[in-house]
Amino acid sequence: MASDEKETVEGLLEIKEIYEPPKEIVEKAYVKNYDEVYQAAIKDPEKFWEEAANELEWFKKWNKVLEWDYPKAKWFLGAKVNIVHNALDRHMNTWRRNKVALYWEGQDGSSRTLSYADLYREVNRFANALKELGIKKGDRVTIYLPRIPEQMIAMLATAKIGAIHSVVYSGFSAGALKDRIIDAEAKVVVTADGGYYRNKIVPLKDTVDEIRDECPTLEHVVVVRRTGKDIREKEGDIDWNELVKDKPVECKTEEMDSEDPLFILYTSGTTGKPKGVLHVHGGYMVGVYRTMKWIFDIKDDDVYWCTADAGWITGHSYIVYGPLINGATSLMWEGAPDYPHPGIWWSLIEKYKVSIFYTTPTAIRALMRYGEEWPRKYDLSSLRILGSVGEPINPEAWLWFRKVTGDRCPIMDTWWQTETGMIMISPLPCVPLKPGSATKPFPGIVAEIVDKDGNKITEPNKGGYLVIRTPWPAMMRTIYKDPDRYNSYWETIPNAYHTGDMAKMDEDGYFWILGRADDVLKVSGYRLGTAEIESALVSHEAVAEAAVIGKPDPVKGEAIKAFVVLKEGYEPSDDLVKELKMHVREVMGPIAMPSEIEFRESLPKTRSGKIMRRLLKAQELGLPVGDTSTLED
Ligand code: WT7
Repeated sequence: MASDEKETVEGLLEIKEIYEPPKEIVEKAYVKNYDEVYQAAIKDPEKFWEEAANELEWFKKWNKVLEWDYPKAKWFLGAKVNIVHNALDRHMNTWRRNKVALYWEGQDGSSRTLSYADLYREVNRFANALKELGIKKGDRVTIYLPRIPEQMIAMLATAKIGAIHSVVYSGFSAGALKDRIIDAEAKVVVTADGGYYRNKIVPLKDTVDEIRDECPTLEHVVVVRRTGKDIREKEGDIDWNELVKDKPVECKTEEMDSEDPLFILYTSGTTGKPKGVLHVHGGYMVGVYRTMKWIFDIKDDDVYWCTADAGWITGHSYIVYGPLINGATSLMWEGAPDYPHPGIWWSLIEKYKVSIFYTTPTAIRALMRYGEEWPRKYDLSSLRILGSVGEPINPEAWLWFRKVTGDRCPIMDTWWQTETGMIMISPLPCVPLKPGSATKPFPGIVAEIVDKDGNKITEPNKGGYLVIRTPWPAMMRTIYKDPDRYNSYWETIPNAYHTGDMAKMDEDGYFWILGRADDVLKVSGYRLGTAEIESALVSHEAVAEAAVIGKPDPVKGEAIKAFVVLKEGYEPSDDLVKELKMHVREVMGPIAMPSEIEFRESLPKTRSGKIMRRLLKAQELGLPVGDTSTLED
């Protein structure tokens, strides 16, 4: 293994105890015996996924389940479908039309409740509005909204008419938004006057205004009024309410080919340019439907809460599409985990009787710091299943999460990626748990740990590259406008999909994710590329060169540290540190702001001129620097 690969997650406790699943949960679960179901699926994966597909409605069924032309997969060939038909339309013919789809709780104390029929009507009205703006099948719509129901409505409306949504997380700022609008060639941006974030209002519309003239394809900016903040009216602005008020509440759902694009979601890689991960209607729908149902064991009387933002893949798959296709009732909270007080999340669980709660290790660690007295104040007895996603969960956080929620709920530690579209490695409620382990691959998924040549590592507890061997329905179909970048996932390691993660497997066949093997950071679970942050730094007039590393952080998992070489005529100072941090914040967003900046005279480079981040990181952490034979000096 190269020396930049990690053997262990920082601070990982070894917990030997195994947590057996609660009997009352297993008895009622969709899947009662993991091994049996896994073995059957692996024998005939196409049959396995076809059975899931048959539980959903199609305008026309497929004539072939899978066409696998390495590294290109097509699923449910020849079928006609629209994911929104299964997320909304089909519930209109059942009792679920009057079931609550979404409880929304605003940070200012306001709230909204939308039944499936309410959501259906709102989506249709906005779908008709998009049509009026000239949006057609295949066009791209960028959605840049805070955590409000319109985020979900805009996504579903776009998909309903066959257009492609590209959601940009509202924590990104002007530079990141601009790159994503330009790459997607979006005609419309849907935004809001602002979004609440703790005691501030994030001026989303102002951010759009800053860059809209640099986006040649952009014709309209639809503005949701959320905060009442003043906006400067510009040509092309349209008020959401004005736009939808006279629109019909029915809108035909476009019949799509199962391989037609559903959305593009940008994510960070190892270069400065974000990757437009593309997902399609058919396979993605089947994958998120099946995983949502089995992993969270979702039933009609559950209240499900995923604390993510719909701007990330977790939100696409397990706030919007997965829950709605399963006819679930969800909760959405507009604000932060600890504002206006550190008990807010627990209070919402009590208020809405949340039974399934899916969150991130960073949030758990942050809440842990406020102490057990906060969860103790509330009745959390409605909870039955917990979930974790986004980064490795350290056993301390795992144990705390379990303990404060009543010491009875199984925790589904779900490993997956923007590219995989659906959860890939995770327990089901019937699987015995080990704190810190994502346990086993989902039925139908072949995960392995290999060396760089693709040889399977059979020795238990030896770290290696985590790969997936065979195609799955929700896998990305391409990187938008960059097919070579798609191919590289399947060409790095022979005959496998390269996840970019390191992992090990223990003697019981349990997977333990060790972290990224590449220059991708996970900061508070947010995925960021070191190169993206470096280019943001270099775009400042004082900066000649920059190198960014991730440093272990007790709450965020990783914290951003930047090494900066200044241009001639600039002197290091505390003010300049502040200014550079603010600069990154303005270009990329608050989530990318370095927590530490160190000025250097020069940066270590290879003879071919590549910055050796690995060396900087080893020095920073006091670890062996490893192989330095390619170092310039
Ligand atoms: C990367 C993907 C997929 C949902 C959100 C993240 C890390 C994700 C886990 C987990 C350890 C995890 C991996 C992965 N990751 N879940 N349960 N345990 N690591 O999606 O932003 O595309 O990031 O997140 O490093 O490669 P993403």
